[in-house]
Amino acid sequence: MKEKLRIIITGSNGFLGQHLVNYLSQGQFEVFALSRGANQNKITHGLNYFPIDLTDVSSVKQLFEVIKPQIVIHNAAMSKPDTCHNFREECILNNVTATQYLLEASQSTKPYFLYVSTDFIFGEDGPHDEDTFPNPLNFYGESKLQAEAAVKQSGLAYGIMRPVFIYGPCYESMRPTFLHWVKNSLEQGKEIKVVSDQRRTPTYVYDICSGMKAMIEKRFVGDIHIAGKDIVSPYQMALTVAKELSLDSSLIFPVTSDTFPEPVIRAKRSGLKIDKARRLLGYEPISFEEGVRKSFASNE
Ligand SMILES: NC(=O)c1ccc[n+]([C@@H]2O[C@H](COP(=O)([O-])OP(=O)(O)OC[C@H]3O[C@@H](n4cnc5c(N)ncnc54)[C@H](OP(=O)(O)O)[C@@H]3O)[C@@H](O)[C@H]2O)c1
Repeated sequence: MKEKLRIIITGSNGFLGQHLVNYLSQGQFEVFALSRGANQNKITHGLNYFPIDLTDVSSVKQLFEVIKPQIVIHNAAMSKPDTCHNFREECILNNVTATQYLLEASQSTKPYFLYVSTDFIFGEDGPHDEDTFPNPLNFYGESKLQAEAAVKQSGLAYGIMRPVFIYGPCYESMRPTFLHWVKNSLEQGKEIKVVSDQRRTPTYVYDICSGMKAMIEKRFVGDIHIAGKDIVSPYQMALTVAKELSLDSSLIFPVTSDTFPEPVIRAKRSGLKIDKARRLLGYEPISFEEGVRKSFASNE
């Protein structure tokens, strides 16, 4: 029998991390899940879980010597823009320095290194393709761009993938997504104000998983956008949730983003173009409506 490929997934306790672990555990991979604290993944049978703080370089190097990964998916991050804005040193430590440690630890076995980045490395006037000049509008985006640069300079075979506004099924161990907040609010009869002057290409989490699997299988080198195909505002997303779940859409009120002043600047027109992924990976995401149906079908 063919030996399974040893794959490390960092940030396995997070939203994308948990889904990735579940998805890739079913394939040709032996998954080694790394995150802080106790394992949060509902799948525990046969899971190799290692609690680790990625900012501890000696632990990272020791673990890599034991696992000898052939593939590393670096998904862990301080992922909330507000937290990055308020705690800049910690943001650099977790998003940039930890990435550098993983790259150093990878130098002995030279795995294929797949870095999960973000549309936040770009500025306004989206949707952006891979040739758009980066222009992060906030500190989170800046830190992810710095991490991308470290990956590119590492000398490893690398892939950088950029998703946008990830959504999908939400297990108990995950923090609720925006879509789940909408569902819960409408079910409780609460009125909600939702921003209508921002545009995104929300990405269904299992489209990300299949896109990343294709990157690994092809050992795709370079950067690529793995996003949804529909350009929608949060307000339109909320209306879709109401429609698909037969909830009361009259409780949803459109507002402009200046209704919620915040220190973190976010692009009004973001989103990513996926022509490159379609062409080179055969990537084809589902529609946002279908993604909403699937997000709620599996855990109701
Ligand atoms: N969510 C989105 O819409 C979105 C959009 C574009 C790109 N992304 C990118 O996609 C990736 C996953 O996002 P997500 O929303 O799934 O994030 P998430 O739910 O916040 O998960 C990130 C995980 O990484 C862990 N982590 C962070 N720093 C660590 C460290 N030093 N050592 C060990 N573990 C550490 C976190 O642990 P703790 O729980 O202990 O903090 C958490 O479990 C991130 O790289 C993010 O930048 C996300």
